[in-house]
Amino acid sequence: MGSRAGGSDAPTRGFASCHPDMGSETAAQRTLLVGCGQVGTRLGLRLAAGGGEAVALRRRTEALPAALSPLAVDLGEPVPRGLLPEVDAMVVTLPPGPDDDAYVRSLQHLADALPEPPSRVVLVSSTRVLEGLAGAEVRTEADAPAPVSARARTLLEGERVARERLGALVVRPAGIYGPGRERLVRTVLERTPVQHAQRTNRIHETDLVRALEAMLMAADPPHLLHAVDRRPAPLGEVVGWIAARLGVEPPPRILPEVAGGTVLAGDRLLALLGDLRFPSFEEGYGAMLDARAGGAPPTGRA
Ligand SMILES: NC(=O)c1ccc[n+]([C@@H]2O[C@H](COP(=O)([O-])OP(=O)(O)OC[C@H]3O[C@@H](n4cnc5c(N)ncnc54)[C@H](OP(=O)(O)O)[C@@H]3O)[C@@H](O)[C@H]2O)c1
Repeated sequence: MGSRAGGSDAPTRGFASCHPDMGSETAAQRTLLVGCGQVGTRLGLRLAAGGGEAVALRRRTEALPAALSPLAVDLGEPVPRGLLPEVDAMVVTLPPGPDDDAYVRSLQHLADALPEPPSRVVLVSSTRVLEGLAGAEVRTEADAPAPVSARARTLLEGERVARERLGALVVRPAGIYGPGRERLVRTVLERTPVQHAQRTNRIHETDLVRALEAMLMAADPPHLLHAVDRRPAPLGEVVGWIAARLGVEPPPRILPEVAGGTVLAGDRLLALLGDLRFPSFEEGYGAMLDARAGGAPPTGRA
């Protein structure tokens, strides 16, 4: 399998073609980033830096960087045909909406409005669809999803629609953290009680963006990818480590202790990328806390 993004932070030029007769890569192309918020913007900047065109679709486009081509569209409503451009690839990072149906409806509107589905489509879902598999057993992409909440069922239905109507590959990130995503650091500083026994998985935003780029570039990408780092850990261990680095007491335990949550293997992501910039929370939060100590502002919100 040819991940062109593996092992480098440099933007990659050109997309793999999904056509079986084509070579592994064609000229740099145009990508539609649907629901282009924090992750989409970082991905778009990488694609643009690699010579591609990134079209950023969202409702409010004013704050997008100049390197992205803005496209103001509300997918909550039907989209007139002809509004969406022809593109070679598409990455969907829409969040599940305020009501149970909004997410799936938005994906349907997207599929209805496209001139034709691009040759490569990546849908960003969430490891939340695995929530019913809570336990100490290590889970992989081979495990069937087990939604429990309405939100997880909605995400899973979105995956189905995106696969069926758009031929989408699916990436399920665990909790995304990184500069500008410092909720857990605030939790520690504010001494907000947490469930120390909760099993958690996470992915640094930098590695998630690399993973999405690799899903676009790879000649033979996986159909399903769990975007998780190498270090699943109980929440108490993570907040304890952050607290020690900050020189403060760990936040109190929520009682009774309940060990919910899954333990997810990140082997497939590692195979795709070759390495992770932040294989564990120690590296990821360590870099964030170093930047914080050095007075650097969070840079994640582009
Ligand atoms: N945060 C986590 O820990 C986590 C974990 C697992 C998975 N995820 C998933 O990761 C993905 C990327 O997250 P992110 O942090 O980049 O999200 P984000 O910054 O909130 O970006 C999502 C963008 O979608 C746009 N949007 C929302 N509704 C829309 C609509 N009806 N039509 C068009 N655009 C719409 C929003 O912009 P406008 O308001 O301008 O439209 C927003 O900027 C999401 O799919 C999220 O569900 C996140």
